[in-house]
Amino acid sequence: MPEPWSQLKKSILAEVKPNGRHHEEISAFIVKLKVSLKEALRKGGVDADVEVHGSVARDTWLVGQRDIDTFIVLRHGSGRRDLLRVNEVVKGYTGEGWVEAYAEHPYVKKDIEGFEVEFIPCFKAEAGKGFASATDRTPLHTAYLQPRLTDALRDDVRVLKAFMRGIGVYGAEIRVGGFSGYLCELLVVAHGSFEALIEAAAKWGEHPVVELEKGMDSKFKEPLVVADPVDHNRNVASAVTETALWTFVAAARAFAEKPSERFFKTTPHNASGVRARIEDRGTDLLFVVIPDDDPPVPDTLWGQLYRTEKAIGRALGERGFKVLRTGSWSDEAKRHIFVYELESIALPPVMKKVGPPVRLTKESGDFLKTYLDSDDLVSGPGVEGGKWWVEVKRRHVFPRTYLRKALADSYEELGVPKRLADLLGVDGDVYINEEIEGELRGDFPAYLDTFLRGRPDWLV
Ligand code: UTP
Ligand code: MN
Repeated sequence: MPEPWSQLKKSILAEVKPNGRHHEEISAFIVKLKVSLKEALRKGGVDADVEVHGSVARDTWLVGQRDIDTFIVLRHGSGRRDLLRVNEVVKGYTGEGWVEAYAEHPYVKKDIEGFEVEFIPCFKAEAGKGFASATDRTPLHTAYLQPRLTDALRDDVRVLKAFMRGIGVYGAEIRVGGFSGYLCELLVVAHGSFEALIEAAAKWGEHPVVELEKGMDSKFKEPLVVADPVDHNRNVASAVTETALWTFVAAARAFAEKPSERFFKTTPHNASGVRARIEDRGTDLLFVVIPDDDPPVPDTLWGQLYRTEKAIGRALGERGFKVLRTGSWSDEAKRHIFVYELESIALPPVMKKVGPPVRLTKESGDFLKTYLDSDDLVSGPGVEGGKWWVEVKRRHVFPRTYLRKALADSYEELGVPKRLADLLGVDGDVYINEEIEGELRGDFPAYLDTFLRGRPDWLV
């Protein structure tokens, strides 16, 4: 191992690897949790084991990370109704303040003594025998990894997680579309070390497939494929978007060439110059701001936001705007902002429209009827090749009025989720360039700064 790598790993681990005190704190909490929860379940008439899984069980968690993935494993012969029963018992156990969340089925979360405890009911599963619910695999993940993770590999998993976090691709949630903790563990195990993974990823080509067990065929279409060793029908990397995958590859390549702490840090952005930067940029920025008092859970929300971002971008493109880049920001509580960088907000005043083929009598008649006496007509109608054409004045050159109305009226056609289209129609606003000034608060300015800069912090 080249010297700078091991030095660097040491200094990263000094920050992210839990020490004895961290471990004692978490172990003491878990022992207490298990005993009291088991007792509550027994009293509630639920026959189940309590197991902690995820990064805490595998000793691959990062300092500061406080989630305790607590699985309530129902015995054979239990049904889906028992899952719901578990949730009721858990709510009684935690008391006030629980939150019900949904993955494939509902589960309960609560902040207890500074830990984010997730109570996830599942059925007991065995490898190769199929799964009754999506969470049943998790205990098998722990069983698969425990004998394969050495202390050195655990260190490397932590370094990899910190690397992924630093370059902004850690987490399988919709907002990130990146690498889950379990995926990081598998990648390190498959390659034997952080360094080996980085060297390999630097050379990844089209559609990379990482195999943990020989002969796992890869029928998956997603950008990155890592079949789950405990369930070959599942791609552990299914959440990884193309952008996340290739961001990782680019960062791995840069890191392999010149390792640096830079990759593990998210630099705080200085947002004070944003206004000036917008002014002398040369492009135009269009912002769509949607206030939202009651957003759904983050995964649902970000699904809606990304769909909206795309739909509005498409609508702008269809109206003749040249869209260079788009982005979404949200505080996940009150306000969402979409950013569109346009080549220009001013569209040329005249555009050409190609009409129907002359050979189609009826369509030709309709076309002529529409344009012959139109106030917007600049030139034509004429024939070019086999088709009619006209040049007409562009009517809605300014998207501000157009967008609000169009979104509220035709959200289905545009593909904007109804909830957001409705909110936009009522309270939404469209701003152009420095008009956004009044919205430059919270961490939106930092987001906008990053958007305008465009270049990842690790790339120098
Ligand atoms: P977590 O999301 O908490 O991941 O899911 P983690 O491995 O503990 O990583 P960090 O350190 O918290 O970020 C807990 C476990 O649930 C399973 C995995 O086994 C994971 O380790 N899981 C989670 C999945 O199989 N698929 C998912 O989409 C999410
Ligand atoms: Mn976890």
